[in-house]
Amino acid sequence: MRDTPVIRLGLVGLGGATNQILPSLRSHPDVRIVAAADLRSEARERFASAFGAPAYAEVAALCQDPLVNTVYIATPHQWHKEHAVLAAACGKHIIVEKPMALTVEDCEAMTQAAASHGVHLLVGHTHSFDPPVRRMREIIRSGELGPLAMVNTWSYSNFLMRPRRLEELDTAQGGGIIFNQVPHQVDMVRLLGGGMVRSVRSMAWALDPGRPTEGSHLTFLQFEDGAAASLVFSGYDYFDSDEFHFWVGESGEPKAADDHGKARARLRRFADAREESAFKASAAAQAGFGSASLPANWHHLHCGVTIVSCALGDMRPSADGVLIYGQDGRRELQVARGSAFPDKGGVVDEMLQAIQTGVSPLHDGAWGKATMEVSAAVLQSARERREIVLQHQVPARD
Ligand SMILES: NC(=O)c1ccc[n+]([C@@H]2O[C@H](COP(=O)([O-])OP(=O)(O)OC[C@H]3O[C@@H](n4cnc5c(N)ncnc54)[C@H](O)[C@@H]3O)[C@@H](O)[C@H]2O)c1
Repeated sequence: MRDTPVIRLGLVGLGGATNQILPSLRSHPDVRIVAAADLRSEARERFASAFGAPAYAEVAALCQDPLVNTVYIATPHQWHKEHAVLAAACGKHIIVEKPMALTVEDCEAMTQAAASHGVHLLVGHTHSFDPPVRRMREIIRSGELGPLAMVNTWSYSNFLMRPRRLEELDTAQGGGIIFNQVPHQVDMVRLLGGGMVRSVRSMAWALDPGRPTEGSHLTFLQFEDGAAASLVFSGYDYFDSDEFHFWVGESGEPKAADDHGKARARLRRFADAREESAFKASAAAQAGFGSASLPANWHHLHCGVTIVSCALGDMRPSADGVLIYGQDGRRELQVARGSAFPDKGGVVDEMLQAIQTGVSPLHDGAWGKATMEVSAAVLQSARERREIVLQHQVPARD
């Protein structure tokens, strides 16, 4: 770490998301973690003793801490807007987890707040930061494979059957896949396709009465330039699309081939929703602020099977890079990854660059709002059974 790190970070929310990004934050030479805020006293105490830094019960107090110049917001979705607006008003740069917020209007309010207080706002992590996805974007832009035609991205996992807080199972409060997993897919596909989605047609399903929120969807996106994408997600712990991705899990970890149904079986052990929610909180505590041991062998993050088709070839992320299926056969490009597992360092690098150059990050408020617009349109299209034409799309600035 440098003597005067560029990013002096306050962590807002000490749960699962923070644990996942902490290895990338802790190992980054330009980041120092200087404070945290959480409602739970037990989480605050653990943080204070692990980092020797203050942990506040109020997000407003963290935002007023003069040592903090950037906040990382990983509270539940419904708090993102309020916490981002608070941080902006205190002059702090903002990294906010996906989904940016629950409505396009809230995304707009966050963007306005950041702009009027002269701070950077970055939405991430999403899988559009994954290095193989960025590499595929470069290949598309280079024209090496000719014009882009289709992106097909399919993910089957146990997402909905993992231990959840109550609101994570209520769509009206941001529950289900629409606000949690669809933004990953949309953000990645928008980056690959250049950002400008024209319209969305979708169907979505809540297939488990015990978990009454959308757990699967099938969506067709059209881009302004004639390219198109299909997005599929199913989170019911039946088929696992990692079978088609070298048995590498979403975080890049090697994965056992016979885990189908295990998340569902674990749920049956909880007496009620309260016990399930408490289990989720205690699992985050046990993860030990990102200091869990590294798997012996790990790979790039990914979000299922993604195949990009251009006029002169197809490509897809592999475990360690990008597989290209061109006119002369198949080849694999190795793509470097950072030193932390899981590798979410791209989020930090993008914010660092924005602070150092004064130029808004690619994943800024306008970009995040456009991804939210598509994600919300997935739900609207499924409910109203019609195509939704979009209005807030912005191009990828790369
Ligand atoms: N990018 C990713 O891969 C990824 C992964 C997981 C979660 N997330 C996102 O991160 C966010 C948090 O999800 P999670 O799974 O970590 O949830 P979580 O329940 O594990 O953690 C949330 C934390 O925020 C705290 N909190 C809740 N309300 C608060 C408030 N008003 N003020 C201060 N602290 C508060 C809770 O006590 C808890 O410690 C969600 O928006 C989710 O979509 C992103």
